[in-house]
Amino acid sequence: MDHFLYRDGQLMAEDVPLARIADEVGTPVYVYSAATLLRHFQLFDEALGDMPHLVCFAMKSLSNIAVLKLLGDAGAGMDVVSEGEYRRARAAGVPGDRIVFSGVGKTRAEMRTALEGGIRQFNVESEPEMFALDEVARSLGMVAPITVRVNPDVDAKTHAKISTGKKEDKFGIPISRAREVYKTAAGLKGLKVVGIDVHIGSQLTELAPFEAAYLKVAELTETLRADGHDITRLDLGGGLGIPYTRSNEAPPLPVEYGALIQKCVGHLGCEVEIEPGRLISGNAGVLLSRVIYNKSGEGRDFLIIDGAMNDLIRPAMYEAHHDIIPVMEAEPGVEPTPYDIVGPICESGDTFAKQRLMPPVKEGELIAFRSAGAYGAVMSSEYNSRLMVPEVLVQGDQFAVIRPRPTYEEMISRDKVPSWL
Ligand code: LLP
Repeated sequence: MDHFLYRDGQLMAEDVPLARIADEVGTPVYVYSAATLLRHFQLFDEALGDMPHLVCFAMKSLSNIAVLKLLGDAGAGMDVVSEGEYRRARAAGVPGDRIVFSGVGKTRAEMRTALEGGIRQFNVESEPEMFALDEVARSLGMVAPITVRVNPDVDAKTHAKISTGKKEDKFGIPISRAREVYKTAAGLKGLKVVGIDVHIGSQLTELAPFEAAYLKVAELTETLRADGHDITRLDLGGGLGIPYTRSNEAPPLPVEYGALIQKCVGHLGCEVEIEPGRLISGNAGVLLSRVIYNKSGEGRDFLIIDGAMNDLIRPAMYEAHHDIIPVMEAEPGVEPTPYDIVGPICESGDTFAKQRLMPPVKEGELIAFRSAGAYGAVMSSEYNSRLMVPEVLVQGDQFAVIRPRPTYEEMISRDKVPSWL
């Protein structure tokens, strides 16, 4: 559930009309609902019940520090994958002991920053990374807490570009080699093994792949303990999917996911960490855009809008579906009409939807892309020298610009012309 609902004929973000935000901030603009973000975080927190646990928000899905502060103040940890994300989390006031560091290519400089600044654990993804981290930690006179990310060879049954747990994927070490790798880790003085990590993919719409992976992790926990390792933490990754359309079947709920975790690993007495991103932020955000032109083509009508693929790349990159609705609610009984909804960028890939049925929309009117909070603003760019899309956070009846739209001068002055030109 989210807090983007029609009230008196117009779409609201909590108690703020989206049209008001569009007037004051301009379009395109991302708008997030604080109540939705908090609610989704709490659903996970509650789902893990009395198991000792930490919900680490996968901030790659939405990394504005206002959002991180909101969630961090509510008790969330963070899953980071770069020094930039680590620094954002710290800037938002999240303590180091609530930050886990994931990612296949951590550099030595990134390891140093996290060790010096404080970190809960590194989720190590390869042996070379393990040796590098050992070296960096020892050079600082420190011991780095680690889990090893295992690749359980499970098909997450999701889009190929966001599936990560099959043996041909670049992530983690094959679970079949785990005992050997843990043995090596135990011999390194700069590392302390604390647990196991797994993440099999994103936008999973069934529980079965999670179950297959978590049962393998449970079995591995027993094996590693028998080998003498102190396994006290299980990081079970993120990936629970969200409903992108109102019509299709809804993916499992956090409470069902929590029950599955309890069933698979609850008996082990480990502290459980999870790394949900999309389910917390996805339906907590919309991209608001204005129709520039309504153009009649050969047998089809185009809505040309001021948002483009540089602002929301998911449809172009993953053929992703986002519901698109008018900000002014259609009168009851109005016949929907098919539109190709496109941005102004000079390539055909800049298409959000083809032959999408929606109530008639006129030039100058506002539309909202639903479910755009996750992997929306964070994947935006300045392609075509379009200004970076701004972000707004709503809480109750108040809203604030949490990232302003830059000026053209700011954008252009970042480039430097060498003196010899
Ligand atoms: N943990 C790790 C190690 C991950 O790689 C990811 C996502 C997550 C957690 C969070 O997964 P979530 O709960 O958000 O599904 N840009 C793509 C999604 C990429 C996901 C990458 N990893 C999209 O727009 O669909």
